[in-house]
Amino acid sequence: MNFEFTEEQIMIQQAARDYAQRELITDVIERDAKGIFPEHHIKNLANLGFLGMLVDPKYDGGGMDTISYVLAMEEISKVDSSVAVVMSVNNSLVCYGIEKYGNEAQREKFLKPLARGEKIGAFLLSEPEAGSDATSQRTTAEDKGDHYLINGTKNWITNANCGSTYIVIAQTDPAKGHKGINAIIVEKNTPGISLGPHEDKMGMRSSDTHSVMFTDVKVPKENRIGEDGFGFKFAMKTLEGGRIGIASQALGIASGAMERAIQYSKERKAFGKLISQHQGIAFKLSDMAVKVENARNLCLKAAWLKDNGKPYGTASAMAKYYAAEIAMQVTTEAVQIHGGYGYVKEYHVERLMREAKLTQIYEGTSEIQQIVISRALLED
Ligand code: CAA
Repeated sequence: MNFEFTEEQIMIQQAARDYAQRELITDVIERDAKGIFPEHHIKNLANLGFLGMLVDPKYDGGGMDTISYVLAMEEISKVDSSVAVVMSVNNSLVCYGIEKYGNEAQREKFLKPLARGEKIGAFLLSEPEAGSDATSQRTTAEDKGDHYLINGTKNWITNANCGSTYIVIAQTDPAKGHKGINAIIVEKNTPGISLGPHEDKMGMRSSDTHSVMFTDVKVPKENRIGEDGFGFKFAMKTLEGGRIGIASQALGIASGAMERAIQYSKERKAFGKLISQHQGIAFKLSDMAVKVENARNLCLKAAWLKDNGKPYGTASAMAKYYAAEIAMQVTTEAVQIHGGYGYVKEYHVERLMREAKLTQIYEGTSEIQQIVISRALLED
């Protein structure tokens, strides 16, 4: 085993850290308070190659490995998960989905601008009545010979407004259940698409979340990804990688909160000494560090498996489950260590705590990860 990063991986980690600590930090509190989409930061990250970092250079991507992606996601998420989630959805759900399962024409037309960060992608699986129970798709993609006619509503869609390339999961043949579902690339400017209002969320408030309504949206057949009926498996396979992204995000939220707690405990005095010298605080810090290190190792293991062409679905579910759970625990403790200061916005940890909550919910709740993990343990 080799626990060392390559020079390139360290450079990517450093570039992400520099950008997060110098640029993202300057307006993160205001953007969070007002729910302002981080447009200029997304452009800057596109220039750094972070929006298509996993894509092969022949499709204008960065050609970086998944380990580098984990390292970059952690650094960005230490400061601003609203930005990190744009990176995660674009890289691991949309770019990966088209690169791995699309055809050459789709890669040329849709993947290249996404990999360059000129366009942003969104992944439209969740519905008002199909969140965890993802096979219960009500959105329909009626087969009309040379095109599909899409009708229905998608919910909680990250990048719905800033994104212009959608991957829509929809039911073509209800009689076939999940085997009748398709994944179809839809350009947002197609007539018949409308958006609900920006969701006023607890955390990740500046990320761009809307519901999306489809009314008789006509999409050419050539936009379907894979064979007829491949859509549900496509979504599941793609989410396996997406969960490495969100696990790394949760890791970054936890490690960012821990770093702030360590710093604060070395500055704040109580009962005549620094609070770090009180064992009650020092032990909290040690517990945070063990959890963060475990989460990092699970993320890197899942990334390593993916990079080495080995099955990684269970590992990514474990990474996401654990990292999301400890992100909630570590951020709560970070607020506790900060006392009253932790409860106000200026010290960042209350925001990190609000962000942590979402990592237990999206891209498969913690309970869904437990289903995925336990099924893998119990299967023959
Ligand atoms: N890879 C390939 N195929 C898979 C698979 C995988 N990882 N997981 C399931 N499948 C296949 C099964 O083999 C089965 O196919 P067959 O019938 O041919 O054998 C088919 O898919 C149905 O699988 P299940 O019977 O296991 O289906 P289920 O109804 O029990 O559900 C589930 C499985 C794992 C719970 C799934 O519904 C699930 O993952 N739900 C959570 C959905 C989710 O993560 N949503 C996130 C939304 S995206 C998002 O949040 C993005 C964002 O904006 C940030």
